[in-house]
Amino acid sequence: MGSAFRILIADDDVASRKVLQGFLEGRGFQVRTAESATEAASLLKDRGQELLISAISMADCSGLDLLVRAQEVDPSLDVILMTGYLDMSFAIQGMRKGAFDFFHKPFNFEKIGFAVDRAQEQRDVRPDAQRYMVEKREKELQQETALSLARAAEGRDRLNIGHGRRVAAYAVKLARKLCYSQEGIARLELGCKLHDIGKIGIDDAILNKAGPLTDSEFVIMKRHSEIGEYIIKPVSFFSELVPVLRWHHERWDGAGYPDGLSGEDIPLDARIAGLCDFFDAVTSKRPYRNPMSLAEALSMVEAERGKYFDPMLVDLFLEIQAPHLESVA
Ligand SMILES: [Fe+2]
Ligand SMILES: [Fe+2]
Repeated sequence: MGSAFRILIADDDVASRKVLQGFLEGRGFQVRTAESATEAASLLKDRGQELLISAISMADCSGLDLLVRAQEVDPSLDVILMTGYLDMSFAIQGMRKGAFDFFHKPFNFEKIGFAVDRAQEQRDVRPDAQRYMVEKREKELQQETALSLARAAEGRDRLNIGHGRRVAAYAVKLARKLCYSQEGIARLELGCKLHDIGKIGIDDAILNKAGPLTDSEFVIMKRHSEIGEYIIKPVSFFSELVPVLRWHHERWDGAGYPDGLSGEDIPLDARIAGLCDFFDAVTSKRPYRNPMSLAEALSMVEAERGKYFDPMLVDLFLEIQAPHLESVA
């Protein structure tokens, strides 16, 4: 085990203190000792210790009280209690108060060694575990926020219920073909679910118009990609979704909007979202037209190879078997 692990032994019994110190130093640990709870509490104030091994029964103060004080001074400190066999109820109280472990006197060195090693191992992995919990919560928060934003957007865009979800489902199929990482797939999926969030900022009369848009209405509608970026940008954990929101209407040949990007200048996530967005739009019913059949929609995608869409993505999309496309309902 690592020699840097710093242990403080608190025991007013000099023989126990010395024998335990000798054992732990023999295993390479850095050991300090305190002959009273008061001295231990004062040494703990410099927060230089990683493990406190304290007798429960001491003349000036109980090890249980020292445990509570130690936790106040340094919440990350682990505490192992030493107890006589007759003090079992105190040991149990100590565990309830947050002690890491306890062992009995007279010492069983095998058990002590095991308990101290375990304390060190847990301390070593604790930062990873804490980081994992924080990241997990961040992801949950991200999903919850995304869901409410998507609901807000879908509530306004009544002609397009389920559009974001379907675009995301097609995009995931394409991303798998491109061997996207799990992280990349999650990012793309979320971006596609929210790609039209900017429609929140488009007037109802245009958004839910039961007919094709006029040129001037279309100019207004086109603003949704920039509005989407504007909405999402202040949320730091959504920053990686910006390319999909802003550029999902760019075209491979540069004739798209809002920036007229072309070819590989359009981020891949946005190129995928754009193709899947188009495919879902033409296969969905509108008040002024019936949905295209799968075959018609696929031949339209093929016709736009190298014009509207990245040729490589078109080839991969056409490889997806019809039942897999039809399953996205
Ligand atoms: Fe859009
Ligand atoms: Fe869309």
